[in-house]
Amino acid sequence: MMMATMGGGWSRYLVLLLLVLLYSAPGGVWGQYVLGHGYAVRSISTSPDGKSISAKLCLINASDKYGPDIQNLDLNVWYETPTRLRVKITDSDRPRWEVPQEIIPRGTQKPFIHGGRRLLGSSTAPPPEGGKFSVPDSDLVFTYTTNPFNFFITRRSSTETLFDTRTGTNNDPDGSVAGLVFKDQFLSISTSLPAGSSSIYGLGEHTLRSFRLGGNDYLTLTMWNEDIGSSAVGLNLYGTHPFYMDLRAPSGKAHGVLLLNSNGMDVIYRPSQITYKIDGGILDFYFFAGDTPAAVVQQYTELIGRPAPMPYWSFGFHQCRYGYKNVEDLEGVVDGYAKAGIPLEVMWTDIDYMDQFRDFTLDPVNFPLNKMKSFTDRLHQNGQKYVLIVDPGINVHQDYKSYVRGLEADIYIKRNGQPYLAQVWPGPVNFPDFMNPASLPYWQREIQEFHDVIPFDGLWIDMNEVSNFCSGTSCKLPANGPCPRPGQQTQCCLICDNSNMTIYDNPPYKINAGGSRRPLGERTLSASTEHYGNVLEYNAHGLYGLTEARATKMALANVTQKRPFVLSRSTFVGSGVHTAHWTGDNSATWDDLAFSISGMLNFGLFGVPMVGSDICGFNGQTNEELCNRWIQLGAFYPFSRNHATITSRRQELYLWETVTESAKKALGLRYKLLPYYYTLMYQAHLTGSPIARPLFYSFADDINTHGIDKQFLIGKGLMVSPILRQGQSSVDAYFPAGTWFDMFDLNTSLSVPSGRTITLDAPLENINVHVRAGSVLPMQEVAATTAEARKTPFTLLVALGNGEGAEGELFLDDGEQVEMGGAGNGWTLMQFHAVMQGNAVKLSSQVQNGDYALGQKLLIETVVVVGLKPRSQLKELILTVNGNPVDVSKVKVAMEGKGDNGVAVINGLCVVVGQNFELTMQMA
Ligand code: GLC
Repeated sequence: MMMATMGGGWSRYLVLLLLVLLYSAPGGVWGQYVLGHGYAVRSISTSPDGKSISAKLCLINASDKYGPDIQNLDLNVWYETPTRLRVKITDSDRPRWEVPQEIIPRGTQKPFIHGGRRLLGSSTAPPPEGGKFSVPDSDLVFTYTTNPFNFFITRRSSTETLFDTRTGTNNDPDGSVAGLVFKDQFLSISTSLPAGSSSIYGLGEHTLRSFRLGGNDYLTLTMWNEDIGSSAVGLNLYGTHPFYMDLRAPSGKAHGVLLLNSNGMDVIYRPSQITYKIDGGILDFYFFAGDTPAAVVQQYTELIGRPAPMPYWSFGFHQCRYGYKNVEDLEGVVDGYAKAGIPLEVMWTDIDYMDQFRDFTLDPVNFPLNKMKSFTDRLHQNGQKYVLIVDPGINVHQDYKSYVRGLEADIYIKRNGQPYLAQVWPGPVNFPDFMNPASLPYWQREIQEFHDVIPFDGLWIDMNEVSNFCSGTSCKLPANGPCPRPGQQTQCCLICDNSNMTIYDNPPYKINAGGSRRPLGERTLSASTEHYGNVLEYNAHGLYGLTEARATKMALANVTQKRPFVLSRSTFVGSGVHTAHWTGDNSATWDDLAFSISGMLNFGLFGVPMVGSDICGFNGQTNEELCNRWIQLGAFYPFSRNHATITSRRQELYLWETVTESAKKALGLRYKLLPYYYTLMYQAHLTGSPIARPLFYSFADDINTHGIDKQFLIGKGLMVSPILRQGQSSVDAYFPAGTWFDMFDLNTSLSVPSGRTITLDAPLENINVHVRAGSVLPMQEVAATTAEARKTPFTLLVALGNGEGAEGELFLDDGEQVEMGGAGNGWTLMQFHAVMQGNAVKLSSQVQNGDYALGQKLLIETVVVVGLKPRSQLKELILTVNGNPVDVSKVKVAMEGKGDNGVAVINGLCVVVGQNFELTMQMA
């Protein structure tokens, strides 16, 4: 009791004395730990509602490495929900940087008590052996040890240990730190993993050789947003997501861990341990109980925000390139697609359209206003869309209105009170500070004025890590000569100085940014620049892309009054609330083709489901075979865009015959599946569920799926098994137990009683896509644009098998209203259930908010049932709509199928989408 109420120096000595005595006790409970590292619990108390505890920790051994230790720490543990436990550790005596609630709103749990002197008498000395803390409705149990302080989290239902800081060792190559370390500019903590039974995914953004971390490798995963091409394996890339999912074998149970921190960090992975080494901020852990992978992502996105709905059109195919020469060039590409009969939904333009690479301007020679206007008008008449790039760097020039207005609004990031000068495409730039509330009206006005000129449909925000072609604490314009120098656009032309580095530019612990332990600020903002409210770039570095995406989304929604489409290169925890993402500058290589699957799957876990990679490759020279295989895979990315750099050869899909054929085939299926993709978007928005998912998402119990990253699922049961290597014409695909139907030939099926690898033919024009028994897929017809496709009749594909039923969903709205679902009735949800009852198959719908769909007068004309008994015949067909029998005498039924698979194709139905119907097929 006395210890609990004493603060300051005396108590520390008393505690230390006591600790030494305790340690020296033979066989004492602390005997297993290294004497005296880290902190000890001094006092602890539980909140009146029993849902949180609060403790005081004090330093029990100091080390000077990376600066002095912080003496007193506050530990707070909250059961925020039954499935979410938060563990926060910070300095007791001084406030520290935390990711602002305003940027990632996440509830307002305050420490209920601080213990120590501030609330006399309310806390108690901890039991010497530590203690357990749990609430009845949570599967997560928090246990702590007192001296040294450690904690571990177990699952009540299985007794598995999920997170455990008691690891006495550390995996720092120089062996310098162990246990909990908390300094001003260096925090470290480790958790042990049950090597061999734990599969870890996430901790991005990186390009790694496998989706599952490491295998036996030792990985240093650095998080520091940087303009490093995604073809670079293992390096820190554009985004920061200190979140991982841990999937255990053999249980198939998953949990998630987020460390919410926006400072630079290294997360060191090895099969038995994860160690965090962070440059600042606080330790703010969130544990998500799962216990399915889907539940983990649902719980994670409940905290960080659910993914933004994307407009319907954004699920069409996109064509982009850096280096389109002029409007005629763009027109030629649009025509090329039309002539080839490959659907093109969205034409993009990179920085080429700008006047001297300045945002919100047009190159008067190559992209003049009148031509741009007629070009965008024509696109819109075709039902196509237009997306433009905008970079955050605003060119410093008195003649440039956007710059002057930014200066007047005083929204640029500063150092020593002056806007920080950097260099990007246009040469010298300042960066708007999107943490400054005044940047929102500024940004919106720029977007509004430009939109009044060119009615673009979406915005692509690039270079927002932020990228800077110079490095330095302060840079100035050269006295003579142009900047940038002709032909040397990406080379620094500013005169930069690093002599006045602060402890933020050059912190004691050097994260492994760019693969070298160097000062921060390389090719980005200096870490000692300041944001609004004197927030140091050092702390907020990770947040630039997120805050820019937020500002851009809000501006677009206000300007267009439609659902915004934003594509951002840089992301942070919660970016999915605002933006889609592409995986950045990959290369036209077979490796990069394969890596794109892991990149996409990771962002699904991070709550950014609208994601894809540059199809056919960005850097380097693609080739016919690679581009062919890439469109076959990329047609199924949630975000499907072909993009290349200025020095690459042209790679529009119509340029090669084989690629044209494959594109028509793969995109043809994609367009038929648009209602399915869009419904998955709705589910993502509602629950966080990724659109593209790893196989373990649906088959966690099958531990063979835990390591699979060469195949993926779209939704629950549609599996894509692409070719990822040159010269191959067959693919070894893993099929989890069940019956699977070939989407390109529904008569063909294969059944596996337990998971099996099967070699599938994949000649150049084929990609393997299978649907598993159990799904009802809503489909429409292919058309030149998504708007046209939306008018075509529906087919319901009902995949049955092994006596199992099937289910599916269809979400419909106009595809561009700002909200998706929610209040109002501008949308319809139809759920489909199919069951086998004896010899009958019954397919029925359940409709929510039918009015929207009824108003569209769309028809379900076709139902295809696969997985019937072979050679079965239809005896009778009964259709009721809203309970009333409907004449089916004109309905045509064809019985097909091969081998074990009986298929019924029922054509000529006239069920209006939005109605409750029941279709009974009595089979003989
Ligand atoms: C960056 C982008 C790339 C773009 C280029 C020019 O490298 O990642 O997609 O084409 O800048 O704007």
